Amino acid sequence: MSEKSGLIQELEALQAKAELELKNIQDSAALQSWRAEYLSRSAEVMSFFKRLPEAPIEDRPRIGQFANQVKTILETQFEKKESAIKQADLDANLQNERLDVTLPGRETTRGRLHIQTLVLREIYRIFAEMGFQVYRSPEVETDENNFELLNIPAYHPARDLWDTFYTTKPGVIMRTHTSPGQVRAMREFAPEPIRVTLPGMCYRYEQIDASHEIQFNQVELLAVGKNITFGDMKGTLEEFAKRMYGESVRTRIRPSYFPFVEPGGEMDVECFVCGGKGCSVCGGKGWLEILGCGMVHPVVLRNGGYDPEVYSGFAAGLGPERISMLRYRIDDIRNFWGNDVRFLEQF
Ligand code: DAH
Repeated sequence: MSEKSGLIQELEALQAKAELELKNIQDSAALQSWRAEYLSRSAEVMSFFKRLPEAPIEDRPRIGQFANQVKTILETQFEKKESAIKQADLDANLQNERLDVTLPGRETTRGRLHIQTLVLREIYRIFAEMGFQVYRSPEVETDENNFELLNIPAYHPARDLWDTFYTTKPGVIMRTHTSPGQVRAMREFAPEPIRVTLPGMCYRYEQIDASHEIQFNQVELLAVGKNITFGDMKGTLEEFAKRMYGESVRTRIRPSYFPFVEPGGEMDVECFVCGGKGCSVCGGKGWLEILGCGMVHPVVLRNGGYDPEVYSGFAAGLGPERISMLRYRIDDIRNFWGNDVRFLEQF
């Protein structure tokens, strides 16, 4: 056979067309349709094998061979292209999603303790150094512990001092102060001597404003034993104020009334804003109140299981929010439970 068979020319043309198309392919979707067009069972190259009988019998082996060759060439080129595209995809991904290890890391926000947790712990620590242990008592209390046994009978006008949340269960209330813990501690330890701090949340049905919240912490202090005097109380509380506010803080104890102590008082610290001269923060007084205190009333001692002829004691009730407000100059008590991170973050 001298001249080229028509089938071979067709095959050459097909190969050229396929190669040109393949060259321009950039993505794997186009590559797959190219493959379907030129290399699948129904593709054109394949049809040449079926068309062999069109050629003279002596040319058939050559044409068959050539068709095979074209098929192999196209397959090889397909594979090359396929791996080139994969590599290009990979390179592009690496480019786009590049991790720059030299960039500074993102700071994780660290949690911290609430300001009141910090202040409470400091109060426990100061009193612990003076021998007072933390004694926990419940926030849901009986009317009896919260009032009755603290020398505040139902008819007593002093009940008006505590606006109480009542529960649906008669005789069960949210404690309005930590003082009922005094009775619990005394009943547990009598007739042993006691030195405890009684911390925790208290609840009052009050109009909320800058200095009143319906929930707040208190830390109660109770010491019971033989020969405990007003002087012991004064020394303990003055020492506390010094450790809390600094050596140079000035304090005073004024007479006041609480039904569960006799005599009763309130302790003030010198106003941190005006240094005692009188300003709007202290209402012109020069002093700020931080706690109530007094000698445990004989009725309360007896209710707790101590003979008031033999034992005596002192008690005090501190407002830790008040203490933080003075120390950090916080002007609104609602900040404590408002959950604003801009406030909480500062401590
Ligand atoms: N329980 C009182 C209150 O919430 C505070 C208080 C005053 C506690 C005098 C005391 C005390 O232990 O001696 O208003």
